[in-house]
Amino acid sequence: MKKHKKIKSGKRKITRSKSAKSVAVKHRPRLAAGKKKSARPAKLNKKTLKAPPPRRQTVVILDFGSQYTQLIARRVRENKVFSCILPYNVSCEALKAMAPKGIILSGGPASVYDKKSPLPDKGIFKLGIPILGVCYGMQAIAKCLGGSVKYNPQREYGKTEVFIDDARDLLSHLPGNITCWMSHSDLVKKCPPGFTSIAHTLNTEIAAIGDRSRKIYAVQFHPEVTHTIKGNQIISNFLFRICGCFPRWTIQSFIRETVEDIKKTVGKNRVVLGLSGGVDSSVCAVLVHRAIDKNLKSIFIDNGLLRKDEAENVKKTFQDLFHLNLDYVNQEKRFLDRLKGVIDPEEKRKIIGEEFIRVFEDEALKFKNVEFLVQGTLYPDVIESVSPTGAPSARIKSHHNVGGLPLNMKLKLIEPLRELFKDEVREIGRQLGLPDSIIHRQPFPGPGLSVRIIGEVTEERLKVLREVDKRLLEEIKTANLYDKVWQSFAVLLPIKSVGVMGDSRTYENVVAIRCVESVDGMTADWTRLPYELLEKLSHRIINEVKGVNRVVYDISSKPPATIEWE
Ligand code: XMP
Repeated sequence: MKKHKKIKSGKRKITRSKSAKSVAVKHRPRLAAGKKKSARPAKLNKKTLKAPPPRRQTVVILDFGSQYTQLIARRVRENKVFSCILPYNVSCEALKAMAPKGIILSGGPASVYDKKSPLPDKGIFKLGIPILGVCYGMQAIAKCLGGSVKYNPQREYGKTEVFIDDARDLLSHLPGNITCWMSHSDLVKKCPPGFTSIAHTLNTEIAAIGDRSRKIYAVQFHPEVTHTIKGNQIISNFLFRICGCFPRWTIQSFIRETVEDIKKTVGKNRVVLGLSGGVDSSVCAVLVHRAIDKNLKSIFIDNGLLRKDEAENVKKTFQDLFHLNLDYVNQEKRFLDRLKGVIDPEEKRKIIGEEFIRVFEDEALKFKNVEFLVQGTLYPDVIESVSPTGAPSARIKSHHNVGGLPLNMKLKLIEPLRELFKDEVREIGRQLGLPDSIIHRQPFPGPGLSVRIIGEVTEERLKVLREVDKRLLEEIKTANLYDKVWQSFAVLLPIKSVGVMGDSRTYENVVAIRCVESVDGMTADWTRLPYELLEKLSHRIINEVKGVNRVVYDISSKPPATIEWE
């Protein structure tokens, strides 16, 4: 599957603590799209996720740029085995040091017969670690180990019937034929020495291959997508029958290990944490509090970009419910001053990311021995802000807590959730005993309403959007949809439209309503809201919010749109 590529340059130095979930990262200039990429094996320290601690059984996914790479990681974790994604060209020495139980080569948009095609360090095939290639990963294995790959004029895209020819190990416990999802126009024409074909389609004799003695397997289709029937059986066969993993990575084990890691990392130092009231920072707060108790100082920053009554509600929830050591810091003016005249979305994000850090640094000076700042960064934030793997994946937008961080930070970062997806974080929250009101709180971006006000952020425009947003959330809750949708919010557009109210002409703002369904924020579909609800929303907003005379509904999915407008 081809993927839109746009990798921009950026240079920054961020110190991350050396716990299992964090790593010293020195960002180098990113490759501009189309620039030549070094094929040298990548070392496992910079720009990449850190190797997990040895006690944890891990399966590594080498990323060749597929849009499904993260999905493979999720599927492995759903089988209770920890997974992490690394660049396709990570060196075999680095992999050996990590001692993963298995390696999966992801799909990708390239063709192996292109001169510059990404290929893994060939040493990985001699490590004795089981390997599974998926789609492009299969072609890469064939190319590296002496098989041949050809362009297939009868391209197989979408659902394809695959016939199983060898039902041992990788393809065991499956019916004789299964419907699989294919998305590549290249095919393996000749198996590498030592391999045999273990499945075929009507179009090709070689739809899956295996070398049982070396425990190297590959499939032409995508077992990770739900369109592949019994795809999870194939993944679990690889994990448990071939790699010999045990299903031990559970939320409970994650909590235990993370609390231990934080204790070790922080020692007797103190930590500040930015609490926003959302599920990510709340889960972080409870985890860190468990680890270091009173040495955690939680700070709620009012950046002036919050929704109506938000600051009050968060203060109340956390002080009443958790008796957390929470400081409220009002920095409305500081943020709004810096945003004056700023229109570019990336600039807004960078300014806010930097201001957040500066405020934390200022606040940290008020306490002794503060060395660390905890952030509730999630895996999708990392993926969409920078390419965490060095593989050919694209930067979408600078999430304020990743790509929006300033060049030099005095505090070291601890990001306990950096490798997790939102639904995993919600499950942790549930197991930590957080109330449903926090666990199911819809995500709210760190840059707040600033990325929902297209154009300049002014107090007046903030006021309009807050009033619209309040009514929208009220109606969504009344319709019992708040927990069912991923997000529902309003966007203030930089255009005015003509209307008529009473007998007078109006020339006022247009707002867009955005309501989406999603599992992890990586992809999303717009919600088919009932017409009656849309009508009520439009009626209430136009009648009750001064300055708005038109409401539109956003019917774009992600991709190709993103959830937030900026
Ligand atoms: P996009 O707009 O990238 O959003 O499709 C995906 C999810 O991430 C949230 N989002 C952010 N969260 N800081 C955050 O903490 C950010 O800078 C940020 N930008 C987007 C967004 O609301 C959606 O849930």
